Amino acid sequence: MARRKIFAGNWKMYKKRQEALDLVKGLLAGIADIGEREVVVFPPSPWAKDVADLCRGSQMAVGMQNMHFEQEGAFTGEVSPLMVKDAGCRYILIGHSERRHVFGETDDDVNKKVMTALKNDIEPVICVGELLKEREKGLTEEVLKRQVVKGLAGVSAEQMKNIVIAYEPVWAIGTGKVATPDIADEAHRFIRKVVEGLYDAKTADLVPVLYGGSVKPDNIAGLFAKEHIDGVLVGGASLKVDSFLDIVRVK
Ligand code: PGA
Repeated sequence: MARRKIFAGNWKMYKKRQEALDLVKGLLAGIADIGEREVVVFPPSPWAKDVADLCRGSQMAVGMQNMHFEQEGAFTGEVSPLMVKDAGCRYILIGHSERRHVFGETDDDVNKKVMTALKNDIEPVICVGELLKEREKGLTEEVLKRQVVKGLAGVSAEQMKNIVIAYEPVWAIGTGKVATPDIADEAHRFIRKVVEGLYDAKTADLVPVLYGGSVKPDNIAGLFAKEHIDGVLVGGASLKVDSFLDIVRVK
């Protein structure tokens, strides 16, 4: 079985409602003939339902950028997995570097969210990645291994079919400094090896591993050509119809 190919756009805290709807309509018009490729957008939470309504029956799925790990409760300002599901979202971004480094999310939080997502039939896109200082100290593999092992604690081999991993080196996010295809592929290969150690070769072979960090129309081809890069998680370049479509439609 071939690995799924996924092109995801993380809109972060950009786009007012009408802008979000216009972007989705533009994307939908441009992806009708992309074959097996899957497209996912992560709009700001208040527009998730509207975006999901527009995407129903199309090749584009919708996710939220964050949620709480409890089903409901007195957690002012948080979004519950029940709401994510109710809004029509299939995916949830978990442990994005901005969540980890700006909002202080820990590996333990990430794991709780992964387990809650699975329980609610929401598919987690688990983000992992090292800081520049960690890479410079030769700690990349140690960091990736810790984030993957802790993030997946308690996830069964069967549940792994609903997991996507995104490798996003923190030094490459929003900086214009994309990882070279070789650096990214090596990290992806390592992540797959960690998954194999936790489960088995088949599970590792099937888990989609996306690359994220300054992906643009002019660097996508080299990245996507790599054996272990199964797609991308795009920030800045996913905010415009043309640039995201150029990425999704890479040869
Ligand atoms: P970027 O963001 O493409 O703007 O670097 C990627 C991400 O944060 O997912």
